[in-house]
Amino acid sequence: MKIAVPAESHPGEARVAASPDTVKAYVKKGVQVAVQAGAGLGANISDEAFQAAGAEIVKGPGVVKDADLVLTIRRPADTLIKSLKPGAIVAGGLEPYGERKALEAFAASGVTAFALELMPRITRAQAMDILSSQANLAGYKAVIEAAAIYGRAFPMMMTAAGTVPAAKAFIMGVGVAGLQAIATARRLGAIVSATDVRKATEEQVKSLGAKFVYVDLAEAATSAGYARELTAEEKAKQAELVASHIKAQDIVITTALIPGRPAPTLITKEMVESMKPGSVIVDLAVERGGNCPLSKPDEIVEHKGVRIVGTLNLAGRLAGNAAPLFAKNIANFLDLMIQKDGTLKIDEADECISGTLIAKGGKLVHKIYEGAK
Ligand code: NAI
Repeated sequence: MKIAVPAESHPGEARVAASPDTVKAYVKKGVQVAVQAGAGLGANISDEAFQAAGAEIVKGPGVVKDADLVLTIRRPADTLIKSLKPGAIVAGGLEPYGERKALEAFAASGVTAFALELMPRITRAQAMDILSSQANLAGYKAVIEAAAIYGRAFPMMMTAAGTVPAAKAFIMGVGVAGLQAIATARRLGAIVSATDVRKATEEQVKSLGAKFVYVDLAEAATSAGYARELTAEEKAKQAELVASHIKAQDIVITTALIPGRPAPTLITKEMVESMKPGSVIVDLAVERGGNCPLSKPDEIVEHKGVRIVGTLNLAGRLAGNAAPLFAKNIANFLDLMIQKDGTLKIDEADECISGTLIAKGGKLVHKIYEGAK
């Protein structure tokens, strides 16, 4: 069996879907690995490092043409899809909630595709969860970006010339990214508060030394561990609480997402206008429409002195960490399929396999594609 790792073609994508460690592990199982020349450079992994781990280095995207299994960070571009061998398997980040037509064309190419974004949220799957490994880094980086453009310091400082007050940071959405954002803002010395619609997060927020700002709602966590969409009444209740809290905040990091839905609006234009000039909002949900209607993908928007950062792919800006973690998630997933003799067996009875399988036999097959197009 042969695995190919092409260079990512999406503009600005610095990650790569394999690391020297994962290549070594594949080779040890008797699998051949080919990596496109230069694929790891954005993540500081040289061709030599891949080669030393046992990979063959191949120039150009033709690396995929005789591969049984292709590993990617993002859904491959059309040209790459056309070069795949019939029956090839693609595994990695595939943006399963992306544009339907493009997904259908991807499936129509005949690939068998596993989107690791859809990994079930069960304990056994944690080591294969690309959303978690990347969100953790994104939460950290969001605070670092905010600190870099904030025109003041985060920690309180008592100096002979006067006291510098601590920055107030508010984290909205306390999933994986939010928890890391709380921890990072605390480490930098900010006074941190956080909110979420899932009740379970209260204890987590408090255990990190932050204040929990809670909207009293009926349980909003789904059995899958994600948040549900709020009713109009609940949204209004939440908005009222956020409006009164946000006025006093210097830094706001928003991370709220609902799977398969546009990101919920948490900060309105009026709320932004109530904030002090110099405040910074980092909208981590911008890729899915944003938690603030003023945020724009890959832009820093200034509105009445408040800057709203919409930088995309924050985890990708830490590619030196993000790529090896992503690569290890994929390798842990492939462990479910690669047999002792180096061959591949797809056992659809395994929920981590069936739960991530999005395309097979020319069609999109996951339940997220059932019903309306
Ligand atoms: P996510 O990225 O889907 O959402 C981020 C956060 O936004 C969530 O905490 C969600 O509750 C919150 N949110 C959604 N709508 C909101 C609103 N209107 N207002 C405020 N907050 C809102 O979630 P993420 O980070 O992927 O994970 C959520 C939880 O899932 C984790 O905290 C963890 O408990 C669990 N999890 C379990 C895994 C496993 O067992 N394999 C793996 C990863 C996460």
